[in-house]
Amino acid sequence: MTIEVARILVFFALNPFAHAAKPKTIVFPKDFKWCTATAGHQIEGNNVHSDWWEFEKQPGAISGGQKSGLAAGSYTRVSEDIALMKSIGANSYRFSVEWSRVEPKEGVIDAAEVKHYQDQVLQLEAAGIEPLITLHHFVSPLWFRNKGGWEWEGAPKAFADFARLVRSKIAPKARFFITINEPMVHIMGGYFLGNVPPQEKRPMQDIAPVLIGLLKSHAAAYAALKEEAKKSKTEVQVGTANHLRLFQAKRKLNPVDQLTAQILEDAWNWAFPNALKTGRLKMKIPQMVSIDVEIQGLRGTQDYLGINYYTRDRIHSGAVMRAAKGKPKPSDGDFLERMYSPANWESYPDGLEKILKQAYRKYSLPILITENGVDDATDLKRQDYLRTHVQAVARAIDSGVPVQSYCHWSLLDNFEWIHGFGPRFGLFEVDYSTLNRRARPSAELFKNFATQNSIRR
Ligand code: FCB
Repeated sequence: MTIEVARILVFFALNPFAHAAKPKTIVFPKDFKWCTATAGHQIEGNNVHSDWWEFEKQPGAISGGQKSGLAAGSYTRVSEDIALMKSIGANSYRFSVEWSRVEPKEGVIDAAEVKHYQDQVLQLEAAGIEPLITLHHFVSPLWFRNKGGWEWEGAPKAFADFARLVRSKIAPKARFFITINEPMVHIMGGYFLGNVPPQEKRPMQDIAPVLIGLLKSHAAAYAALKEEAKKSKTEVQVGTANHLRLFQAKRKLNPVDQLTAQILEDAWNWAFPNALKTGRLKMKIPQMVSIDVEIQGLRGTQDYLGINYYTRDRIHSGAVMRAAKGKPKPSDGDFLERMYSPANWESYPDGLEKILKQAYRKYSLPILITENGVDDATDLKRQDYLRTHVQAVARAIDSGVPVQSYCHWSLLDNFEWIHGFGPRFGLFEVDYSTLNRRARPSAELFKNFATQNSIRR
């Protein structure tokens, strides 16, 4: 460092006015939602009429032969879990109403389950915690799956009927709904990799009918929720929760890696929300998939963009080619392989800021961060992850992106799909032998952000 450079640095470090332009603290909007997120199958336990329950019986389906069983026992601990949220200053809760509980057989509604969720919603509202309700979080009723799932021609009506029931009977005042959680993760896992229900491994081109059925079902549920709200002269905001990742070329100056990253970004991140914006599903990955289809009633069916953000991917074109042929190697750093391995997710908060800005440029919609978190039993990584990601959200808001909520995944440790109970995503630790909950230090950190509604840069 030359003496001249050193002098300039010292000048800026000592000069109070040099920092004056940037306040040290960013304040969140007045009605910002500090939220924790969960999903029914992962926390409630005994989700016996679902396709996942059936799937878990297969030897080797879940790591170490585990089963969701009682999960985190939340079905019988609703008040206790709401008290945990309250204790950390949360004013919103993202959870799913499990379709297979409410409608265990086609057309048969279980009144006791409806009552269970009604009570849950009432308790949340009484605690001043705004519900953000997911209608489908990876798990379907077994009967629905046996009918052909999203490819069944009756799927849109069945899903819309369920949506209508949830809004009219379970949560007649709820303002925020997510129809589908992570459509791309759900479809790639269930129909391309085939390692989760409905385990229908097929060439990527053949995911088209599933995606189309799912989009039609989303559109039908969107319309049903809007209709119900209109009937009761209330408001409802409907969208989806998209798993968005930052795709970057592994070899920065390599044009093939760059192009591959762009192609994957377009297909993985944007094809689905673009379809909701334009009414047209367009997805192209050379030699893998090419879809271009107009879908009736789909256009304009998102009132906000829901973003689940965890990590970034460095894309090596060769690895993607191997994956295309169905032979990915973990050492490739292939993104589909990593997608399903939360233990390998790098903490990259700048990626969240970038994605938020990019998403707002594309859609000009309000944004809800519907998931963000890290698998960390020690909680040491989580404290840093939480702070740096909330800072990234604050920077995006500061630059004009209308982010309305931050949901941390997750309120408590839970059943992490094919990985079973190994991963630990909770602000609260769960002791699976007693189902007791205990706050991790990150819970206190979350509370500071939520109660101060601000963060230091
Ligand atoms: C997301 C899922 C959520 C949880 C987290 C870790 O992809 O939506 O259920 O598994 O990852």
